[in-house]
Amino acid sequence: MHSYTLRAPAKINLFLEILGSRSDGFHELVMILQSIALADELTVRANGIEQIRLTCSDVKLPSDASNLAYRAAQLMVQNFPKAYARFGGVDITLTKKIPMAAGLAGGSADAAAVLVGLDLLWQLGLTRPELQSLAAQLGSDIPFCVGGGTAIATGRGEKLAPLPDVEGLWLVLAKHRSIEVSTPWAYQTYRQQFGANYLNDRPAQQARSQEIHASPLVQAINHRNADQIAQALHNDLEKVVLPHQAPVAELRQALKNAGGLGTMMSGSGPTVFTLCRDQAEAEQVKAIAAETVSNSDVDFWVTQTVNHGIQVM
Ligand code: C5P
Repeated sequence: MHSYTLRAPAKINLFLEILGSRSDGFHELVMILQSIALADELTVRANGIEQIRLTCSDVKLPSDASNLAYRAAQLMVQNFPKAYARFGGVDITLTKKIPMAAGLAGGSADAAAVLVGLDLLWQLGLTRPELQSLAAQLGSDIPFCVGGGTAIATGRGEKLAPLPDVEGLWLVLAKHRSIEVSTPWAYQTYRQQFGANYLNDRPAQQARSQEIHASPLVQAINHRNADQIAQALHNDLEKVVLPHQAPVAELRQALKNAGGLGTMMSGSGPTVFTLCRDQAEAEQVKAIAAETVSNSDVDFWVTQTVNHGIQVM
């Protein structure tokens, strides 16, 4: 087999709490991450010319080392030089469906797909923990994107504890096409505004993290109770992104007013989502919200939660 095509699902945050600072400059987090059906597609193909070449369906996306998917291939080359020499270079074709800088981990999902794809192409037989440890070197969300499903993520976001799958929940996503939020900006601004309240000693951070493991949201996930999941959604980064981006706050309100079970921003935004009882309700929420905002700059997606990360197609 000289090529593989992979599906790389986006994620939403059902929960994101910033606990405090870390010595590496990142933040200690507790998140509950959930894969969704909205996904990019990647093909990895041996090209036999000892080069990494990336082609993207979206011309706005860089195709050099500033693209995380390219850096994922570089990392595999560094770690497995013999396989690189044996199989030659790789052509990566990326078809984007997940909006960029949206809080949906689109770039992280693509990088995870390159790691999984090259593992297959180069017949390395890496285990899930081995792939996730490589993934953690590239970005905080990438280990989750490898396996996907539903999980509690702690540390920088790279330490994962699986939760029971809650696939098949319908949701509506909404995002302004022209608004992108820089994740470093969101965390830096949060630190400036709320850093005084940080839990800065490890035992206090760990205790709070343990509390989340027994929280109403985790119980709701254990019981697959969509209504209770929706009631317990939380994202600390809303406190900095919504006041800074009035259109996002308005879109969030419009989506909330349109019905459904509960509304929240995902990650560092600006995507907002509403969990719904079923597909019909999701379509209705989308239609009502679209009419309220009546703005051609806003994209909507009706999608579902899924129980997997990177999948071979
Ligand atoms: O790891 P990743 O590249 O996704 O992180 C992007 C940025 O988000 C980091 O450079 C940092 O500014 C911020 N971040 C953080 N703490 C985390 C994860 C991300 O401060 N746990």
